[in-house]
Amino acid sequence: MATTQEYGLGAFTYPRGWFMVAESAKVTDKPMGVKFFGQEFALYRGKQSGKVVLLDAYCPHMGTHLARNTTSYVAQDGPVEGDSIRCPYHAWRFGPDGKCNHIPYSSGPIPPAAKVRSWTVREHLGAVFVWHDEEGGAPDYELPEIPEWNDPAWVVGSYDDLGTVNVHPQEIIDNITDVAHFDPVHGSRTKFFENEFRGHTVTQRMGGGHRTLIAEGGPMLITTATYHGPSLLLTRMSGLYDSWIIIAHTPVEDGVSYVWHNLLVKSATNAQANDQDRAAARMYQDAALAAFAQDFEVWKHKRPNFKGLYVQGDGPFLKQRAWYKQFYNPRAQRDEFHKSVDGIYHAKGFEGAPQTKAA
Ligand code: FES
Ligand SMILES: [Fe+2]
Repeated sequence: MATTQEYGLGAFTYPRGWFMVAESAKVTDKPMGVKFFGQEFALYRGKQSGKVVLLDAYCPHMGTHLARNTTSYVAQDGPVEGDSIRCPYHAWRFGPDGKCNHIPYSSGPIPPAAKVRSWTVREHLGAVFVWHDEEGGAPDYELPEIPEWNDPAWVVGSYDDLGTVNVHPQEIIDNITDVAHFDPVHGSRTKFFENEFRGHTVTQRMGGGHRTLIAEGGPMLITTATYHGPSLLLTRMSGLYDSWIIIAHTPVEDGVSYVWHNLLVKSATNAQANDQDRAAARMYQDAALAAFAQDFEVWKHKRPNFKGLYVQGDGPFLKQRAWYKQFYNPRAQRDEFHKSVDGIYHAKGFEGAPQTKAA
């Protein structure tokens, strides 16, 4: 496994930012044990408020995992009470703030240390996101909106769960600046390409053909893909259909990522999407997934790229890797990273995006 340290990314093993931890629909009052950032969590939906709760997994009493249990009677009877969760071993109960609020067999005071960490979570874009920051700070950027999310002409897909891959997120992020892979991997005859770095975002504007997504002689595929922080990629795509692609990847441990993929597809003809539109959207999502799988197969089998042998015509990989470092270093250094990379970069041999030139 290739580690953050081997990539020379910075002081922290795991980046700062918002990270997807589950598809919303999968989070219920049956707690799930999940592992991210090299640690175990208990994830559940409170019965009282309907809000999602993410707690450190291990009970301070004797170290039991709060969510990886099915056979105890606590688990069988339902460990979530109101918005609290009971430990399966001796039934201590923890609130959504992580504090123990009931010990069924003890009349003494609840010790202040009887608590687990409760994490900042948001439900957005049909997913649950956690704010992760090794310095313990509050979020310094917001999760992005998709304006068409509630538009009835658009079909919102469900998340394709690609599971755990032994790939450091750096290799996935490299894709945003990788102009030269489009033709060999996706069969896209790229017409224009540029990257724009702005603070916590990096955008790729690309136009060309695409053998996986568009048949020969079809319309040009135009994509604008933006990383909002280190793990959430939203791509607006026009071509056969207007669509949004959502790709999210979260470190499971150092050098291992968990990946999700989803699509929003606009009905080609209707203001209110119908069953036919939903079927077409699912087919288009499968085609987009096949395109993503083309990248995936490369990542799965490649050796780590700590220091590439870049040539003229490659995208601005070094700028992108400098951009990505902002999330692995103290927040106090954030503005310096922005100053050193903010701007628009064209790969040699490709035109810039027409929409930027027009602006
Ligand atoms: S280990 Fe959790 S209540 Fe005892
Ligand atoms: Fe790709």
